[in-house]
Amino acid sequence: MCRVGQMLGTQLGLSTIGVLTCLVSVIISFAGSWVVALILLGLLPICGILMMLVARFASGVDPQVEETHATAGKFTAEAATAIRTVRALGAEEHTLLTLSDSLDYVCRSKAAKSWKMGVSVGLNLMLPQVINLVSFWIGGISVQFWSFDSQQVLLTVFCMLFGTISVGLVAQHIPDSASGYHAAMQVFRLIDQVSEIDAAKSEGCKTLGDGTIEFRNVHFWYPHRPEVRVLRKLSLTIEKGQSVALCGVSGSGKSTVVQLLQRFYDPQAGVIRVGGQDLKDLDIAFWRQQLGFVGQEPMLFDMSLEENVKYGYPEATEEEVREAARAANMDYALSGAVQWTDRIGLRGEKLSGGQKQRCAIARALLRKPQFMLLDEATSALDAVSESVVLQAMKTERVGKTTITVAHRLSTIQNADKIFVLCHGRLLESGTYQELMNMDGSFAKLAARSL
Ligand SMILES: Nc1ncnc2c1ncn2[C@@H]1O[C@H](COP(=O)(O)OP(=O)(O)O)[C@@H](O)[C@H]1O
Ligand SMILES: [Mg+2]
Repeated sequence: MCRVGQMLGTQLGLSTIGVLTCLVSVIISFAGSWVVALILLGLLPICGILMMLVARFASGVDPQVEETHATAGKFTAEAATAIRTVRALGAEEHTLLTLSDSLDYVCRSKAAKSWKMGVSVGLNLMLPQVINLVSFWIGGISVQFWSFDSQQVLLTVFCMLFGTISVGLVAQHIPDSASGYHAAMQVFRLIDQVSEIDAAKSEGCKTLGDGTIEFRNVHFWYPHRPEVRVLRKLSLTIEKGQSVALCGVSGSGKSTVVQLLQRFYDPQAGVIRVGGQDLKDLDIAFWRQQLGFVGQEPMLFDMSLEENVKYGYPEATEEEVREAARAANMDYALSGAVQWTDRIGLRGEKLSGGQKQRCAIARALLRKPQFMLLDEATSALDAVSESVVLQAMKTERVGKTTITVAHRLSTIQNADKIFVLCHGRLLESGTYQELMNMDGSFAKLAARSL
């Protein structure tokens, strides 16, 4: 953006001045010796084209260099944000090395190109001198043979010189405008990118039917990793008001099910229905309003604790915020240990893991969603805190659907139904007791305390 600004700001202004000065100079030069003016005018475009060619030769934007530059920037930002992890792993040296490798490449490529820049600037400075030389030469001839007086000739010569210098001024900015153009193209490409699942588009149905969620023969893989089949022929039904649990070993596709429900992706085959209606036909913004999601690593923002809780529902009253905080057992906020107005740092770094999770739970509860998605949402809580939260949620969730992904038995024991996933397939389903009686993979998982 900075480059686009550069191109459109000062440089555009200077270029306009250059072009206008050139035009005015040419017009005035005809008031002197029109023969000299005509001859020099013939030279002016040649001069301009030459300068432009030279500048273009120097300015070629190498996409690889641009990309390496961007990657280095991203890498620096990432390392700076995760500086504690970098320090804890003693990876400062390695990080610096990786960074200096990419910067070295950028440096080398730019240095390799610098002679072109030098030649270009040199030629740009030389051309007015050549014009100077030619002007005075022709000026001399026109005084001697074409009966113009020296005043007329000097007027024309100096005006034309001004004109040439102005053309040079415009040509000098071509390298910057080339890289500005390149940067602008990238920005436009990003803006023009059409999102397949666009929540800004208000289209589709805004009814939920009976609210039953149904996965029918769903096959799914992440678009950038098609070789890993994440869900295979997954079919399951969750009735409205039920509290269900998803369990299975890590990597079995539980979080993926939750993400599909939030419609961050669409399944490649099969269908997800809500109230008998394809999820794709629902208005996305409306559907996401019905969802409350809490993840294992809750994303909080660098604003006050209260603003974080109100993030998805800014018009909430103070009473509603306190109520959600009580339900999520945010004792640290209710007791005043952390003030509601305290900023909680980048990604909530001033809170402990459990405090962050409870803040995220309160944020989700405040919206009073019809469907609650808890993806290992209480994993950072101690057993006492967890049971308080679960108890509070039990009263909150009456008539609402809750989908819980959890590794602790205590969290899922009371679920109406438990689905056991393995490599994206549904292995078993039933209540806790039914699954234990089955003595299958759930019983084995449970024996290892999930
Ligand atoms: N964003 C992603 N891009 C590509 N592959 C992913 C992504 N997220 C998860 N996966 C892959 O999908 C599989 C299932 O992941 P996930 O649903 O997160 O498992 P679980 O939550 O059960 O531990 C894993 O093999 C994982 O490597
Ligand atoms: Mg997961």
